[in-house]
Amino acid sequence: MTTKTPNKTLIRLKVNGQDYQVAAAVSKTLLEVLREDLNLPGTKHGCEVGECGTCCVLIDGQPVLSCLSLPIELADREITTVEGLAQNGELHPLQETMAELGAAQCGYCTPGILLVAKALLDEDPTPSRSSIREALGGNLCRCTGYLKIYEAIELAAQRMGGEGGDKEAKRPEPEQSLAPELVQRN
Ligand code: FES
Ligand code: FES
Repeated sequence: MTTKTPNKTLIRLKVNGQDYQVAAAVSKTLLEVLREDLNLPGTKHGCEVGECGTCCVLIDGQPVLSCLSLPIELADREITTVEGLAQNGELHPLQETMAELGAAQCGYCTPGILLVAKALLDEDPTPSRSSIREALGGNLCRCTGYLKIYEAIELAAQRMGGEGGDKEAKRPEPEQSLAPELVQRN
């Protein structure tokens, strides 16, 4: 439901389980409203034209680019941002494994990647490496080279795997394929 006020429209949104009403210009994107009106800056500004994936949020569990979404169309939809991943003070397993494996360096791409990975694991608890790569095809990371990100998602999947899961699953051994001179210390 929306109510018009001069130059702005009152928009109702549900974000991370919480109801909000915000007066905003109808042309404002979801990315702008989250950051500027709802004080949820975890969702990052990147290209703003749908090419980098850093602004990704979940809408009804599906990854959506918030820079291309209009809040006025999202009343009654469930929006999840990175601020909604931790539950009861506990980090989501993906947040833990990304930190543990050093899969976030500058961290700018990380919120978008976490949400895409969450949507993937919710749909496919044991994704193959190629499924992970495909799911993250729209998320650019300029720092990590992606390997640590893929490993972090795989480790989270192992730890989250329901009754067959292994909460004690450990980080993978360093890539065997690394040339000896890259791992040797003098
Ligand atoms: S900021 Fe939305 S895709 Fe780049
Ligand atoms: S960690 Fe820096 S862009 Fe991905």
